[in-house]
Amino acid sequence: MSSAAHRPRVLVVDDNTAFLDNLQDLLGDEGYEVDLADSCRAARARAKSGFDVALVDLRLPDGDGTALAAELKQELPESEVVLLTGFATLETAVAAVRAGACAYLMKPCAPQELLLTVEQAMRQVRLQAEKRELARRAQMTERLAAVGTMTAGLSHEIRNPLNAAALQLTVLERRVRKLPDTQQEALIEPLNLVRDEIRRLDHILEDFLQFARPRDFSPAPVEVEPLLRRVVDLLAGEAEARKVRLELVGPVPGSRVAGEEERLRQVLINLVLNALAATPEGGEVRISTGEDEHQIWVTVDDTGPGVPVALRDRIFEPFFTTKAQGSGLGLSIVHSIVTQHGGGLEVAEAPGGGARFVVRLPKAASVPGPAVR
Ligand SMILES: Nc1ncnc2c1ncn2[C@@H]1O[C@H](COP(=O)(O)OP(=O)(O)OP(=O)(O)O)[C@@H](O)[C@H]1O
Ligand SMILES: [Mg+2]
Repeated sequence: MSSAAHRPRVLVVDDNTAFLDNLQDLLGDEGYEVDLADSCRAARARAKSGFDVALVDLRLPDGDGTALAAELKQELPESEVVLLTGFATLETAVAAVRAGACAYLMKPCAPQELLLTVEQAMRQVRLQAEKRELARRAQMTERLAAVGTMTAGLSHEIRNPLNAAALQLTVLERRVRKLPDTQQEALIEPLNLVRDEIRRLDHILEDFLQFARPRDFSPAPVEVEPLLRRVVDLLAGEAEARKVRLELVGPVPGSRVAGEEERLRQVLINLVLNALAATPEGGEVRISTGEDEHQIWVTVDDTGPGVPVALRDRIFEPFFTTKAQGSGLGLSIVHSIVTQHGGGLEVAEAPGGGARFVVRLPKAASVPGPAVR
């Protein structure tokens, strides 16, 4: 989930194309993912998709590298910036420190020196990420405990009247069935609707209770294709109402993950509902899958505004929402289910600029016997 999980990403900002090419090769060979920008404007655009370390030249055609460094640091405080300059003066060095740069390199510099500086900056980024992750987990645990206590009480209070309503509904249904056929017809449909809604409420309560006391987990092989088709069928109406295309791209028939079907359906429904809600009319939500020897991943892409890099960790916290009507529990439920499955959840940018959520789950075959956890 955190930025430390992917290949370290370096953004190089310099207007000298030969220098950019050299750095792309040098850093690329060392396993870095390299992004290039030849101006402040290009750098701002590139920075939107995130970076770990930025190497910024002091002199750029459309602005000052020090100001850009300060801007990037403010936008992505968890990343590090290294300033590059052809001629160092005391003033530029002081300005670099003020801008929040972690290092200052003189050009031309030896490849070894450059790599060492980037590696040190990366170490700093990782350390900070670890610290943040620890703090986040502590906060999440605290919040989950609070949610647990509250929901256990609330669910109990709601469940009683709900059960009573379900019971009365059965009585009503029986009486209706005794009526002549012609009278039954008009009554059966609304009755079914009420029953469906009660069932839905019951499921929501189940979700809340899952928080309060996570159930035992007994994974079994779950076939991915029917699971995804079911989710698409369930949400087709919602997509249509929002005038958003909901597409499922070629899951491999026969691929199976180890898990609990209903919980996994809940994961996907939450992700697709979020994607549908974020996508404007005429847009598209696309579910696709991939797999390797051990894992299967399901990707949900949308054509909405995407999740700003600064919010990418926070959206998984319970109660974090940007919606007037949202509970902010959706993604934290998703996260807890995926973690329970021994999988992973990542958020990124979709190729079209929208949001991308990726759920990774262990393949059925990779579970050693009936797992007990
Ligand atoms: N596909 C997406 N595109 C853009 N932002 C998203 C997307 N999915 C989630 N988010 C952001 O993450 C926040 C948290 O999502 P989460 O599902 O946890 O809660 P919610 O959708 O706000 O409320 P709930 O799911 O409880 O109704 C959302 O409010 C939204 O800001
Ligand atoms: Mg949601």
